[in-house]
Amino acid sequence: MNPRAHQPVMVTEVLEALAVKPDGIYLDGTVGGGGHAHAIASRLKNGLLIGLDCDPNALEIARRHLQEFTDRVKLIHANFAHLDRVLDELKIHSVDGILLDLGVSLTQLDTAERGLSFRLAGPLDMRLDPTQELTAADLVNSLDERELERIFRDYGEERWAARIAKNLVRARQNNPIETTSDLVKIVEQSIPAAARYKSRIHPATRVFQALRIAVNNELENLQKALMAGFERLAPGGRFVVISFHSLEDRIVKRFFRAQLKAGRAAQIWGPLRPSPEESTQNPRARSAKLRALQKA
Ligand SMILES: C[S@@+](CC[C@H](N)C(=O)[O-])C[C@H]1O[C@@H](n2cnc3c(N)ncnc32)[C@H](O)[C@@H]1O
Repeated sequence: MNPRAHQPVMVTEVLEALAVKPDGIYLDGTVGGGGHAHAIASRLKNGLLIGLDCDPNALEIARRHLQEFTDRVKLIHANFAHLDRVLDELKIHSVDGILLDLGVSLTQLDTAERGLSFRLAGPLDMRLDPTQELTAADLVNSLDERELERIFRDYGEERWAARIAKNLVRARQNNPIETTSDLVKIVEQSIPAAARYKSRIHPATRVFQALRIAVNNELENLQKALMAGFERLAPGGRFVVISFHSLEDRIVKRFFRAQLKAGRAAQIWGPLRPSPEESTQNPRARSAKLRALQKA
């Protein structure tokens, strides 16, 4: 199967929330396939869009998609947690808007070798940045049972975390767990049949989400990007974040509310949800929540 092209979510809402100024400087921390970046860049005249992604392959796709805007787009391989360093290197003190469209793209999900999908057989990798060393297989084969349980519970809100962790530790005594299929099989065997039949989602959904969050340090990186990004926003600048699960959304909500309470934000809004039309046409949009903030 060829990986599907990523379809950006809530583009109209993102543009409205960012209120793009033609001569502004914008940072897209998750440039991905360049869908949002294209919409932003097409509204710039003398402005600049800096696009980051920790996945060099995503940057390559974005580069092609944004070809017509080479005069106003800079694409950089970096983790958004280090946006400070990137802006320092570019000698940019402040930006007018920041966008984070969290998680993984459809293209990444559909690439079996990345090990991100429980539907595709592949190595248990899950790194968004292939230059990073730690993989999901490393975690699954080395952490002790309690640590694994904690990851599945805290990052996946998985009810059967303890049973899954126990069975993983037992299974790896015979052979290391190396593929997505190995993991799916063990998760399926750990969840009681009645619970499996009742569930509307694939039994391995939560475990895969949890491991991906742990491998890529997603929650900590988000927290760092919110703090560093807010400091680098110009007065009146906008911060827009689209999240896809409650753990991310909670972090964004708390951070934005705290800024408003401290008088550092002029306004915050959201969560905005995609229109019913968009949710029908792009299933990935269904769980999207957009929150935005304007700096005081
Ligand atoms: C949902 S996709 C973004 C899609 C993009 N907005 C578009 O319109 O095509 C998320 C992207 O963010 C990247 N990403 C996730 N976490 C990141 C991080 N901490 N730093 C940089 N990029 C990250 C992923 O590699 C992926 O390409």
